[in-house]
Amino acid sequence: MWPKMRRTLDSRGMTEHRRTLLAGLAGHVLEVGAGDGANFAHYPPTVIRVLAVEPEPKLRNLAAEAAARAPVSVEVSGASAGKLPAPDAGVDSVVFCLVLCTVPDIDGALAEARRVLKPGGQIRFLEHGRADSAGLVRIQRALDATVWPPLAGGCHTSRDIVAAVERAGFTIDDLRRYNFPPVRTPWSFHARGTATVR
Ligand SMILES: C[S@@+](CC[C@H](N)C(=O)[O-])C[C@H]1O[C@@H](n2cnc3c(N)ncnc32)[C@H](O)[C@@H]1O
Repeated sequence: MWPKMRRTLDSRGMTEHRRTLLAGLAGHVLEVGAGDGANFAHYPPTVIRVLAVEPEPKLRNLAAEAAARAPVSVEVSGASAGKLPAPDAGVDSVVFCLVLCTVPDIDGALAEARRVLKPGGQIRFLEHGRADSAGLVRIQRALDATVWPPLAGGCHTSRDIVAAVERAGFTIDDLRRYNFPPVRTPWSFHARGTATVR
């Protein structure tokens, strides 16, 4: 389902958020959970190489096709967030885009990102997560405990992504919270930001 849903979101404004997420990146980048490779077209020419991991085989095949069309060098791997195929301090940046809602172990994924980042390296994140009112958070938790993860490939609506980033030992440098689409639903609370290894 994701490629179809993704194209709809992108046509309604997500593409612009993707571009902003990736603007200014340089050097070696690791993208976690690349899906069908929607970000690849938006990496700036200052990026030397992207290593993109995507564990789901159909999405990985689509990502490989997108990699062949990308303006920068992109290698696609079948690894997953819990064990990234990069040495300690091996990359300049790690990108998480609409993926920390889904990884089974968010703290483990962020710890792996820390491990592979060079000193002073940064993560870029664009994620949906916890709502801003107790009522909506109750609805999110009910969805997460029942129908939503099995329906949506393991996605959770109520995760506090920004708190998890800080808990993992990153300092948030830049953060923008917004509703996408611009209405208040269990899925609309987005955070886009940059964080540096503390
Ligand atoms: C909602 S899609 C987002 C895809 C892509 N990042 C994008 O922005 O279009 C979530 C992605 O996370 C991937 N994923 C799920 N569990 C993962 C894990 N443990 N490690 C890496 N990726 C994972 C899924 O296969 C899927 O491609």
